[in-house]
Amino acid sequence: MPTSPRLTAIVAATVEGGIGRDGGLPWRLPGEMKYFARVTTGEASTLPTGSRNAVIMGRKTWDGIPPKFRPLKDRHNLVVSRAGVDVSNNTNTTAHGSLEDAITLLPESTHRAFLIGGAQLYDQALPRYCDRVLLTRVLDKIECDAFLADFTSDKSWRQASHKDLCEWVGWEVPEGEVEEKGTKYRFEMWVRDL
Ligand SMILES: NC(=O)c1ccc[n+]([C@@H]2O[C@H](COP(=O)([O-])OP(=O)(O)OC[C@H]3O[C@@H](n4cnc5c(N)ncnc54)[C@H](OP(=O)(O)O)[C@@H]3O)[C@@H](O)[C@H]2O)c1
Repeated sequence: MPTSPRLTAIVAATVEGGIGRDGGLPWRLPGEMKYFARVTTGEASTLPTGSRNAVIMGRKTWDGIPPKFRPLKDRHNLVVSRAGVDVSNNTNTTAHGSLEDAITLLPESTHRAFLIGGAQLYDQALPRYCDRVLLTRVLDKIECDAFLADFTSDKSWRQASHKDLCEWVGWEVPEGEVEEKGTKYRFEMWVRDL
């Protein structure tokens, strides 16, 4: 990792910016979860030998992952908490007292570092540390109580082409509207110079 690593935020949000409800996700979209897992894990064929990707998350997002699915496998897991969180029973997982500590202490073997939420962490990291957002835009109106600020109206961000998204992730991502269990969404990538 470079000394000042840039983060890629990955988030699913409605057009109104809704990302969560009652401490969890407001939808169940297995195909979208697979996209998240595949992108954040990275392709074995493109990961430099001995490296893996990292996921940085807030303590509430960590708590929201069912214990049988955490730590997120084949990725370094970094959990940010002021109060402290016990991750000692988890492999490849570290706890950090601040976002900056987590960024500074990303393992040497990190290839790409992803910011995976939740609302508090996106709020803090997007303006300062992220130069890329993998946004799953959920096109249906869905009631939420956790939100992502509308970064897309900030002129420094521009939407990359679908071809650029596929090249960056290293595989053919579905283009246009995807429908799953009656919910419509599309995969987007936004970038800016930091
Ligand atoms: N749609 C999506 O893509 C997506 C992705 C992820 C999460 N979500 C949703 O987002 C919601 C959770 O978001 P949230 O904002 O409530 O929680 P969060 O950001 O996941 O976690 C908040 C916690 O992180 C810690 N924290 C925050 N800033 C910190 C800092 N600067 N230094 C140290 N620790 C810090 C604190 O932990 P302590 O209290 O332990 O001190 C804080 O309570 C859920 O509904 C979840 O499902 C949605």
